[in-house]
Amino acid sequence: MSAKTSNLQYFAFSFLSLLVLRYASSSYYSEPSIYALDVCTSVDQPNPIAALYPNNATGTLNGTIGVLPIPLTLARKLIPSQYGILEHAYRELLPSFPVGMYPAIVQAMHDHEVQAFGYKIEDFSRTGIEFPFVDLLGDGYSSFKWAPSMLMTAGHEIALKGAQDYGTNTFPASFEPGCDAYRAVPSSKEPGTTYFSASSVEGRESLSTLFSSTEEEMYPLSFFKNFTNQPTFADGKTCDNMIRLFNTTVSSAEKGIERVKGTVRANIHPFKKEHEWSNVYGLRLDTAFIENNYLSCESFRGYVSHE
Ligand SMILES: *[C@@H]1O[C@H](CO)[C@@H](O)[C@H](O)[C@H]1NC(C)=O
Ligand SMILES: *[C@@H]1O[C@H](CO)[C@@H](O)[C@H](O)[C@H]1NC(C)=O
Ligand SMILES: *[C@@H]1O[C@H](CO)[C@@H](O)[C@H](O)[C@H]1NC(C)=O
Ligand SMILES: *[C@@H]1O[C@H](CO)[C@@H](O)[C@H](O)[C@H]1NC(C)=O
Repeated sequence: MSAKTSNLQYFAFSFLSLLVLRYASSSYYSEPSIYALDVCTSVDQPNPIAALYPNNATGTLNGTIGVLPIPLTLARKLIPSQYGILEHAYRELLPSFPVGMYPAIVQAMHDHEVQAFGYKIEDFSRTGIEFPFVDLLGDGYSSFKWAPSMLMTAGHEIALKGAQDYGTNTFPASFEPGCDAYRAVPSSKEPGTTYFSASSVEGRESLSTLFSSTEEEMYPLSFFKNFTNQPTFADGKTCDNMIRLFNTTVSSAEKGIERVKGTVRANIHPFKKEHEWSNVYGLRLDTAFIENNYLSCESFRGYVSHE
């Protein structure tokens, strides 16, 4: 494709986005009206650790993470019955978490400059609801994160296949914004408001978020570091060791790690119907990561991240 065409498409994209912003301002939960275009230009800063770990898969994840308190009884129904839930592990980190509740997690992320051995893949976005503190090995103390389903950039065969190989239900989706982590809502009354939305191209699955800046510290940073670094699985045959670093330039640059509060609306497996959560507390941040794929879950017995 010539540079001229890409520029044109980029401008067409920006123009359409402006229209969407203007007309969707009454409801940011309307269907995203832009489908993935070939041209993806992100404002994300470069991967700061690629040269440090040239022979590992590295990248950056920019976006929003939030804690969705759900009844423990519901978590028990959603998480496969053969796996226990390590309530004592999350209570150790969050002593005042409401009784009878469980912290499900929403991640709405843009994967940027993912690479290994000098080979870089196209950026993509993904989102879903995840279940940390799962006792995959049945040992009563090793925390794993179950991530059964993901909405992921349609057409990105490498990323889609990468997730499917874990047994993840992947839903090819269109994202708004398409090539970035989130977009500002300048007209919002609340300061620092941003939105993100994803919608399955073929099915009914969707997830959207609207977050504003907050000063309230509902959960400590150590809690976010903990669950984002738990080895992750879908069908339990292999585990993904994603090491999220909170101390590189992308996490400290200018705004760094921001506390946010907002609303999440999701219609995605394993939930049977659409749910909306308000007063969701989370972080808006960028993190560099090293990812070690398709490992034996058993090798993470007693795993503690270095963060
Ligand atoms: C993360 O994404 C947001 C939205 O696109 C952008 O404003 C911010 O600069 C990005 N952060 C970094 C460190 O690249
Ligand atoms: C990089 O990859 C090697 C080989 O797979 C692995 O042994 C090593 O632990 C990885 N490095 C990090 C920092 O995870
Ligand atoms: C998360 O915290 C629990 C409870 O303190 C701990 O057992 C576990 O090793 C931590 N997980 C990681 C990935 O650090
Ligand atoms: C950042 O954290 C990682 C993991 O804990 C550690 O290996 C690394 O040395 C730290 N880097 C800096 C610059 O502190």
